[in-house]
Amino acid sequence: MKVGIIGSGNMALSLINGFRTEKKNKIICSDIDIKKLNILKKISNISTTNDNLEVVRNSEIIFLCVKPDMVKFVLKEIKQSLGSKKLLVSIAAGVKTSFIQNELNLKSKIIRTMPNLPCLVLAGVFSYRANKNCTSNDLRNFLNLVQTVGTAIKVPKESDFDYVTALSGSGPAFLGEFINAQLVYAKTKGISSKLAKQLILNTIVGTSKYLSETLIKPDEFVKMVSSPGGTTEAGIRVLKNKKFENIIIKCLNSASSKSKKISKKLK
Ligand SMILES: NC(=O)c1ccc[n+]([C@@H]2O[C@H](COP(=O)([O-])OP(=O)(O)OC[C@H]3O[C@@H](n4cnc5c(N)ncnc54)[C@H](OP(=O)(O)O)[C@@H]3O)[C@@H](O)[C@H]2O)c1
Repeated sequence: MKVGIIGSGNMALSLINGFRTEKKNKIICSDIDIKKLNILKKISNISTTNDNLEVVRNSEIIFLCVKPDMVKFVLKEIKQSLGSKKLLVSIAAGVKTSFIQNELNLKSKIIRTMPNLPCLVLAGVFSYRANKNCTSNDLRNFLNLVQTVGTAIKVPKESDFDYVTALSGSGPAFLGEFINAQLVYAKTKGISSKLAKQLILNTIVGTSKYLSETLIKPDEFVKMVSSPGGTTEAGIRVLKNKKFENIIIKCLNSASSKSKKISKKLK
């Protein structure tokens, strides 16, 4: 597959890492920063250019990985070369499919996605929604690629993207805050950060695996592990008293509202 990437920043790097695992993929990347391209070429040995049109000309599927405020500018630049045969995949937060469609044309093939940073270690979440112009072959090609960097999850409605962005796009950072708080606690108790990290990270992986592989709901799970009068119950009581659930909901609402604001600003 001939794959193009426009904007070679953090997210692009996380995608390239996985896409490269399939030897048959031929990748070309662009960026306005030549220094960044030179580093990329050195570490990944893929084709690079500072010409976005060269990327479009040499690709069947193009990943748009620039910041949301640059999307309009880049779409104007590539519109002609893109035509209605090539598939455009946007990863830009808050940029609606309708916005992209308006900048291109009615027949353009567009997939809006929301990846997350763990794609860098091939364990990302890649939420996606394709517009009606995409064929089953386009979807197959798209899925073959993104499944190299993580789990692909279909988003039913365009409006869900604001919430998907909060949950899985920004989610790794929220989990990072939770982990950091536990590391701070461990440090105050004289536990080495190496030991604390092993305990915390493996606990998250194990809990996640358990909840994925059993039919037990998270609230039932909490009850199951909180025996009356025990240590877990004592800790959970503090979370409930401090309204932990409300704090998390406020945090997610703030992230999804920001996504909505970005969409409105781009109109
Ligand atoms: N970071 C995340 O966790 C995450 C998660 C999901 C989705 N996203 C989305 O992914 C996109 C990229 O995010 P990122 O964190 O990877 O950003 P980033 O590191 O800033 O990467 C964007 C790159 O595009 C370059 N660029 C700017 N204008 C360009 C142009 N006209 N043509 C070609 N390249 C251009 C930038 O160069 P300069 O730095 O020189 O401007 C930069 O190297 C964003 O739209 C974001 O919403 C990010």
